[in-house]
Amino acid sequence: MSVLDRFKLDGKVALVTAGAGPLFGSSITEALAEAGATVITASRSLERNEAYAAELRSKGFDAHGMQVDIGDAASIEGLRAAVKERFGRLDVLVNSALSRPKGMSVVEEVTLESLEVNARADMVGLILMCKAFCPDMAERGRGSVINIASIYGLVGNDPNLYLETDMKPPIVYPFLKGGMINMTRSLAAHYGKRGVRVNSISPGGYSPDAPEPFAGRYSQRCPLGRMMTNEDIQGAVVFLASDASQYVTGANLAVDGGWTAI
Ligand SMILES: NC(=O)c1ccc[n+]([C@@H]2O[C@H](COP(=O)([O-])OP(=O)(O)OC[C@H]3O[C@@H](n4cnc5c(N)ncnc54)[C@H](O)[C@@H]3O)[C@@H](O)[C@H]2O)c1
Repeated sequence: MSVLDRFKLDGKVALVTAGAGPLFGSSITEALAEAGATVITASRSLERNEAYAAELRSKGFDAHGMQVDIGDAASIEGLRAAVKERFGRLDVLVNSALSRPKGMSVVEEVTLESLEVNARADMVGLILMCKAFCPDMAERGRGSVINIASIYGLVGNDPNLYLETDMKPPIVYPFLKGGMINMTRSLAAHYGKRGVRVNSISPGGYSPDAPEPFAGRYSQRCPLGRMMTNEDIQGAVVFLASDASQYVTGANLAVDGGWTAI
């Protein structure tokens, strides 16, 4: 098999949580579909996911919309059962959903309610998603899990970036993403001998609406001199989903323009 063939995802079934989202979610789903996978996108709004799946089908891809609330264990179990019934298996799981509750803010302003939502969805839900899909992958002896982390799972926020803006770096975010990256390593070790690879991606900042003082300072500090675009994450996702990365597990791939290199 040629190296380019190893990037192909033909015959694979891939699920992306929040895979219809306007920023990274839809870029990830489209990239997997372009590489040949049957894609499923799922989040709380079935309508939104079905609409995005229909958009992908109109471009000739095999895409399906489903529903999941990652803050609800029963909903995750429902998704697992629905995927099993409709597709028989899952080859690629991309955990991209992130709850952004009101009150998710700097340490002085964060609320107990927002922390509880984050804990339930972005910690408990993340682990339950892995619990729902990894054992079946292990039983079949193959699978790839990709957790969408962040540069802020690797380094802290630089407060200078936020000067002259209303933006505030949430205190819970580095906690969640740092935990996600280290959980990825443990899960990779747990499943490695059963053929399931588990990796994370740490994207840099992508926010088309970022105010100029923030975007300008961010770009100035970033070695590649700009914020991310939605395309920037696509190659990394296809690489980690596919056999092109067949000997890569437990890794965190920084797709950050060099942000964490300095
Ligand atoms: N945009 C960035 O700058 C950036 C940078 C680094 C990492 N990331 C990560 O990329 C991933 C996608 O973020 P984004 O910025 O593209 O979009 P986003 O933060 O706007 O999207 C989050 C998505 O999660 C979904 N969601 C929220 N709660 C949910 C729940 N309980 N159940 C199911 N779905 C739920 C929402 O519907 C939304 O589509 C996130 O994990 C985020 O942390 C984003």
